[in-house]
Amino acid sequence: MCGIVGYIGKRDVAPLLLEGLQRLEYRGYDSAGIVITGKAAAGKPGTLKMVKAKGRVRELEAKVPKRFAGTTGIAHTRWATHGAPSDENAHPHLDAENKVAVVHNGIIDNASELRAKLTADGVVFLSETDTEVLTHLIARAQAETLEEKVREALRHVEGTYGIAVLHADFNDRIVVARNGSPVVLGIGEKEMFVASDVAALVAHTRQVVTLDDGEMATLKADDFRTYTTEGSTTTATPTTVEWEAESYDMGGHDTYMHKEISEQADAVDRVLRGRIDDRFSTVHLGGLNLDAREARGVRRIKILGCGTSYHAGQIGAQLIEELARIPADAEPASEFRYRNPVVDPDTLYVAVSQSGETYDVLAAVQELKRKGARVLGVVNVVGSAIAREADGGTYVHAGPEVCVVSTKCFTNTVVAFALLALHLGRIRDLSVADGKRIIDGLRRLPEQISEILGREDEIKRLAAEYADAKSMMFIGRVRGYPVAREASLKLKEVSYIHAEAYPASELKHGPLALIEPAMPTVAIVPDDDLLEKNRAAMEEIKARSGRILAVAHQVQEKADHTIVVPKNENELDPILMGIPLQLFAYHTALAMGRDIDKPRNLAKSVTVE
Ligand code: M6R
Repeated sequence: MCGIVGYIGKRDVAPLLLEGLQRLEYRGYDSAGIVITGKAAAGKPGTLKMVKAKGRVRELEAKVPKRFAGTTGIAHTRWATHGAPSDENAHPHLDAENKVAVVHNGIIDNASELRAKLTADGVVFLSETDTEVLTHLIARAQAETLEEKVREALRHVEGTYGIAVLHADFNDRIVVARNGSPVVLGIGEKEMFVASDVAALVAHTRQVVTLDDGEMATLKADDFRTYTTEGSTTTATPTTVEWEAESYDMGGHDTYMHKEISEQADAVDRVLRGRIDDRFSTVHLGGLNLDAREARGVRRIKILGCGTSYHAGQIGAQLIEELARIPADAEPASEFRYRNPVVDPDTLYVAVSQSGETYDVLAAVQELKRKGARVLGVVNVVGSAIAREADGGTYVHAGPEVCVVSTKCFTNTVVAFALLALHLGRIRDLSVADGKRIIDGLRRLPEQISEILGREDEIKRLAAEYADAKSMMFIGRVRGYPVAREASLKLKEVSYIHAEAYPASELKHGPLALIEPAMPTVAIVPDDDLLEKNRAAMEEIKARSGRILAVAHQVQEKADHTIVVPKNENELDPILMGIPLQLFAYHTALAMGRDIDKPRNLAKSVTVE
């Protein structure tokens, strides 16, 4: 969802910015643009040169003229919020005198009001965007310096923003500001970068500074400084990005989705590494900031996330109830924050997010913190907003996930929840023997994942078998139900086949009416104490001539096809049972010619409401 990249230094800026935009493509966008400061004649201000294009970055690249030289610039990929995707609505936006250029992520809530006032003052708008309002406010600000002009403009604005600003009269700098939308500075050797996501920077520098909300920065070629929107200086200590540029490459796979599914054995190995304590049959999670006494005082756990992370949270809640016997549940953060929730001091809240930037999750965390709750984060992106806002937490160490469709992060997040559940369980009533049993199970996961991935050809054949379905049902009970929900989300978002997930126990309360040969069912059938109940559900479907694909620990007679997955401990089975269905969704979408890494209408990080 919207991306920003900027550069100031000595290099030719346009190719650098276009490459940065390409690295942000995965976030989802509909148009792109670039503006640079051209060479200034002696004693004269610089000029701004801009190109914008609806569509992909390659379409923008094709429009960039040969003579487009400069060493300072900002660029943007836009995801339409105010106004349809078009050249005019693409960012950057310029003022009437072509002196100020702004790129913006986020939403300005009072844009219509500001637009009306500016229009009454004679300003002519060239786009329908909220961002253009900001450009005119900066251009009309009376302050002397660019920093003060931006600050003056921001005082009028309500909403969220990550912005980068160029000004022809101040062409030795880029000014950036953040409120609710990520802004990361990349610190180079006599050159500075800015982006909304480290993915755009790591090919050039791994030294980064992440701005906080309410912070601004001035970037010059050999220097940067940070300060608040009120003007007080802040201290910015660069940190080193964990991942190398190659981690963001496709690594020989045709799509990121395939690459990321294939990486899961290593990713799970990483989340376990250094955390298992065999002596006490428990795990160490250093960043929780929750001592044993505090952990024993927790009466409930509420997990908040969106989409796939919410589903991982549902499995997490079950693991916590099973292993730690603490009542736990998961709720979509997007719903929680709007229902004026009762915030209980004895409840531990856990925010779960791959990106650490999902606006609904971040807003839920901020609301909880405002009400005095303790919030942990289970997050993939190190240093992201949710990770920083939380009181403590654990990283899931899945590595960069580029495909919009989340796969390896789901698996690693569930494993991280298993670690949290084991840790809490061993502080409370989980026995040493059960702790050891779970640890042994966790250690078996990477090999079992490799075994499942080794069946890709078989799963590909099955995907071809079911690819004619217009609609599919996914069912599971208790441990299998969140797996069914996640598998149904995977199929629909990447293949666009309609899919519904139901608890198998609910079939006869309504959805059974849908069953017919044209509506196949995927049944999650673990070998646990609900095996017979699941078999009975399959029997009901067969009696209505429904086709069944089972994911199970042994071949299911009632099913037309079974994908057999290796058995682990009952509690850990959900971690493995979703993996073949990621491949199933992938191959279905591939056979249908879908845009696998960038499904229509979706963005990787949903940083707006
Ligand atoms: O970055 P997050 O985990 O907070 O993102 C939450 C959802 O937007 C995300 O999981 C979404 O559902 C994915 N497209 C799922 O594949």
